[in-house]
Amino acid sequence: MDKKLIIAIDGYSSCGKSTFARLIAKELNYIFIDSGAMYRAVTLFCMRKNYINFRSLNTSAILSEIKNIRIDFVFNPDLNEYETFLNSENVEKEIRGMEVTAHVSKISQIHEVRERMVELQRQISVSEGIVMDGRDIGTVVFPHADIKIFMTASLDIRAKRRHSELKNKGVKIDFDEIKRSIIARDIADENRDISPLRRADDAIVLDNSRMTVDEQMLWIKQIIDNKRNGS
Ligand code: DC
Repeated sequence: MDKKLIIAIDGYSSCGKSTFARLIAKELNYIFIDSGAMYRAVTLFCMRKNYINFRSLNTSAILSEIKNIRIDFVFNPDLNEYETFLNSENVEKEIRGMEVTAHVSKISQIHEVRERMVELQRQISVSEGIVMDGRDIGTVVFPHADIKIFMTASLDIRAKRRHSELKNKGVKIDFDEIKRSIIARDIADENRDISPLRRADDAIVLDNSRMTVDEQMLWIKQIIDNKRNGS
């Protein structure tokens, strides 16, 4: 039987990391974990309690409750997808909205929040084979991952993809605002003190600006085959 692999997919926001990671997991029959969804769920929890808003951030209140935040990924057979649950409530739609997106960088900069998320991410059974996407998976969460991919794409392409994704969901938003939000998140992701976004030394770069999803899948299958054949 093939060895179960740990596949870490890191990179910039709106590069299609989750789509790619999800498809790889389906192809291999592995568990898929969208670690960004976990930071988004914590952010939503904090917004609802008013621990974060556009003017203030109550870090000590967040820290006192961090252990009470439960995040689960529950399979929805109708959609054939996993959905994110926050303390037993399905929050999959809400965590993708612009307001959570606007606050998530601040929450993901809090040291104890990151510590807790990494702890939860490592607890997920790896004996099954896992594909996890995020910002620090190959560098911090699974530094010994079997395959590490670092994804990037041009700013315009990323903004276009995000724009059509939101449009499909019925969210009306100006293209330039999306661009500004992506730039702001890149800066926050790359410059935070703890676990900033960076390519692991042994990660393979995938610039998918001019690649279709099918082309990306062919590319990764080759890498997986090489890994399994020891080349
Ligand atoms: O992948 P995403 O855009 O859904 O992630 C949401 C935010 O969470 C992103 O701005 C950075 C943060 N994040 C992180 O700091 N570390 C991760 N492993 C995943 C996401």
